Amino acid sequence: MKIVEATLKDFEQIYDIEQSCFVEPYTREQLMYEFNENPLNKILVAYDEDKIVGFVDYMITFNSATISQIAVLPNYRKKGLGSKLLEEMEKSFPKEIDDAVETITLEVRESNINAISFYKKNGYENVVIKKHYYKNGENAVYMIKRLLCQ
Ligand SMILES: CC(C)(COP(=O)(O)OP(=O)(O)OC[C@H]1O[C@@H](n2cnc3c(N)ncnc32)[C@H](O)[C@@H]1OP(=O)(O)O)[C@@H](O)C(=O)NCCC(=O)NCCS
Repeated sequence: MKIVEATLKDFEQIYDIEQSCFVEPYTREQLMYEFNENPLNKILVAYDEDKIVGFVDYMITFNSATISQIAVLPNYRKKGLGSKLLEEMEKSFPKEIDDAVETITLEVRESNINAISFYKKNGYENVVIKKHYYKNGENAVYMIKRLLCQ
């Protein structure tokens, strides 16, 4: 298994994972925006030989990172790959002290107990519930991981 930064040739495989793993998946246009038009955005993909089996999509703004999405194909779950993607994401953060990422934040559906458990296992804490955050009216749990001691 290798984890590398995504390039445009990975688009279709990521799009397929996107459609199979999320309640309200990104459209092609939204996913293309993540790839091409948002300069702060990064996507890491996990390859099992030539097949993409997971990805993490995130954005760094000043001293904070935000996870937009993370997904692992069902047959590859519960084997540590999601955690490995988070670990590689942290390794990709800027090394310069002034640019250091201090917090990682994300929103996750309140009903997605597997993902909430996954994030907790990886050092994320619940901060607040964002009411009716999603299009279908579902609440989001806003979570944070602090990387540096203040
Ligand atoms: C969330 C997700 C990325 C985790 O990937 P993963 O490769 O299974 O994660 P890991 O193997 O590193 O971590 C496993 C931990 O996640 C949680 N977890 C993941 N799947 C679970 C399940 N089916 N049941 C219970 N807990 C689960 C548990 O805390 C588990 O720890 P444990 O094995 O000690 O019980 C994956 O389940 C997924 O793609 N889900 C669908 C997309 C999604 O909901 N993404 C998050 C919102 S953006």
